[in-house]
Amino acid sequence: MKSANDRSISPPIMHPNKKPHNIIVDNKIITFQESDKNLLECLENANVEVHYHCRDGFCGACRVTLVEGEIYYPNGEPLAFIGDGEILTCCSIPKSDIKLLIE
Ligand code: FES
Repeated sequence: MKSANDRSISPPIMHPNKKPHNIIVDNKIITFQESDKNLLECLENANVEVHYHCRDGFCGACRVTLVEGEIYYPNGEPLAFIGDGEILTCCSIPKSDIKLLIE
């Protein structure tokens, strides 16, 4: 049982499939780095314009079309509605090289 004075920090969650992968988007190739928290963060770091709101899988604002490749949701399937072939960038991580279509 933790006391009120216990200020220990939880270790970071490690994702065994989190590896560098290439992302083709807007005629650019960018690389998902192991340090990127999710696809949205990777796209932002590469100055790719992508919409977002909640950044937590609830609103659906960050959805894009996955043209090729595979992603996964490390924290489980998100709650936002997405159509066939769409993914949420705010809570996904590439499992392979991927190609995205952002509209
Ligand atoms: S920003 Fe809300 S679901 Fe991704």
